Amino acid sequence: MSVFAVAVDGPAGSGKSSVCRGVASEMGMKYLDTGAMYRAVTWAMLDAHTNVDDSDAVAAAAQRLQITSGTDPDLPTISVNGQDVSEPIRSAAVTEAVSAVSAVPAVRELLVDLQRAEVANAGHVGIVVEGRDIGTVVLPDASVKIFLTADPAVRALRRAKEDSERTQEDVSIAATEAALIARDEKDSTRASSPLTQAEDAIVVDTTNLNLQQVIAEVVSHIKAARES
Ligand code: DC
Repeated sequence: MSVFAVAVDGPAGSGKSSVCRGVASEMGMKYLDTGAMYRAVTWAMLDAHTNVDDSDAVAAAAQRLQITSGTDPDLPTISVNGQDVSEPIRSAAVTEAVSAVSAVPAVRELLVDLQRAEVANAGHVGIVVEGRDIGTVVLPDASVKIFLTADPAVRALRRAKEDSERTQEDVSIAATEAALIARDEKDSTRASSPLTQAEDAIVVDTTNLNLQQVIAEVVSHIKAARES
């Protein structure tokens, strides 16, 4: 049976996670956050004091990890070797190191296999998968492909708000914007499956839309695809 899969790609802070969770919840679909998987591997590297700039060491250490994703959009979880790391994967240290780890081809191969297995397991309800290379590499035959974009200043504002709500501390919007642009640059220029828009993706610019409006737009594309 081929699984109905929705691929959602886009840069950091474009609203992917909130949009994908809202869409999956509304449509009764499963949800997979592939960014959380790259963050989980990165967390494990930092936890074991593996040098994230040593790609051979990262590749070897990654083989020993068991990454497990919970795909309920209302309560997504991620664990490494049985330990729930949903909280620590959002730390500034992980965010800083994740682009280096996700540029290692062996890490990508490992996680792409896991991602495809998760999609194959989704069954008749289907799955919304968010990331950077879902429509281009992981699921080139996805039923619907969405590419979310937004102005960098708006993305930085959203990310800084999220971070300050989570940490209960002041977060600089200017520093967030600079970090976000640097991460986009690394994610878009790496050799192995960089962030790019699939040719057949529907582009949704979220700069001037609120969350509910973006969810409604994506849901309408999914319904149109399901009916065709
Ligand atoms: O979506 P996020 O910010 O949690 O993603 C964290 C990092 O993981 C991002 O900087 C690039 C990487 N990533 C990737 O390379 N491929 C994916 N499919 C998802 C994320």
